[in-house]
Amino acid sequence: MIKTKIFEIDDLSTSKDKIKEAADLLIKGGTVAFPTETVYGLGANALDEEAVAKIFKAKGRPSDNPLIVHISKIEQLYELVESVPPIAEKLIERFWPGPITLIMKKSNNVPDIITAGLDTVAIRMPSHAIAKEIIDMAKLPIAAPSANLSGKPSPTKASHVIKDLNGKVDGIVSGGSSQVGLESTVLDITLEIPMILRPGGITKEDLEQVLERVEIDPGIEGVTSDDVTPRAPGMKYTHYSPQADVIIVSGKVDEIVPKIIELTKQKQKEGKKVGIMCTDETKNKYMNGIVYSMGSREKIETIATKLFDTLRQFDEEDVDLIFAEGIDRKSVGHAIMNRMIKAAGYNVIKSGR
Ligand code: TXA
Ligand code: MG
Repeated sequence: MIKTKIFEIDDLSTSKDKIKEAADLLIKGGTVAFPTETVYGLGANALDEEAVAKIFKAKGRPSDNPLIVHISKIEQLYELVESVPPIAEKLIERFWPGPITLIMKKSNNVPDIITAGLDTVAIRMPSHAIAKEIIDMAKLPIAAPSANLSGKPSPTKASHVIKDLNGKVDGIVSGGSSQVGLESTVLDITLEIPMILRPGGITKEDLEQVLERVEIDPGIEGVTSDDVTPRAPGMKYTHYSPQADVIIVSGKVDEIVPKIIELTKQKQKEGKKVGIMCTDETKNKYMNGIVYSMGSREKIETIATKLFDTLRQFDEEDVDLIFAEGIDRKSVGHAIMNRMIKAAGYNVIKSGR
């Protein structure tokens, strides 16, 4: 057990001393979790192999899964990559700081432990004020995967991080809820046509405003078939799993609801405690089960923000299984369904007859 120091930040302008203390832990080779606009990250000095190894240990993360390096100033980018392609400049201009990670050819400064031996490195400049301040004060590039135990839903609140990592890391900066709620879009720009390796808050449509062509990695959700391997090593792992089994019921909303009601009755007869992960629009249709809404279908960003928190809420309720309503794959709905399908271990039932 490590003694984990918790830094409560209510108002950043009066908390510079706490941020300095957290940054000092990073400078000394420690691990510190902090909020970003996507999810909380578990940071360490990206140039210090021993420090980075502590991240893998605390999370129980497989060593073949590379980390994202976080920067707060554009100058830091040039140290980390071989060169900055013109396309990167356009993307950076439009989307940084923000929820998109760019894969570029790495420079020799980046240790192998970060990239899992790949010749590319993932880089992101977060927009969250606390994340920016910590990286600024540490004056270091900071490696930071999501601050959850490997396999668990990514943390969008400090309480999630404390549950997973208290006693395993040197510091946790508590700074409210992550606004986006899903991890960054990962875009590989080393390819002829840029490819989305992980869908996120910045959507394909957003990218098409800047890029002529964008592809989506066909391997992202193809893990069940052997012939397509995702290009981002992390995408091959089952993820985001609460204790209970998750089963997605997909289709049209007016067919999903009766299907879930029917399945719930069936499982309850078998003596199972059933959770239902629904939406604001459907919530009052369920009379049985432990019912939580993920947010509004009309305002799909609200579902992105609350998805992981809702998954974790079911752990508190000790349910045996969770039926989750499928979401339309429009805009950020694509990223939401990507995470839900992984949480469900590819267990999807179609509601249509
Ligand atoms: O929003 C985010 O990106 C959060 C916050 C903390 O910034 N971080 C995050 O990191 O989600 P992590 O480690 O949970 O996910 C990183 C993803 C993994 O799927 C990993 O395989 C992929 O990025 N990745 C990292 N470096 C890569 C590379 N060189 N090539 C391909 N994929 C890479
Ligand atoms: Mg993660």
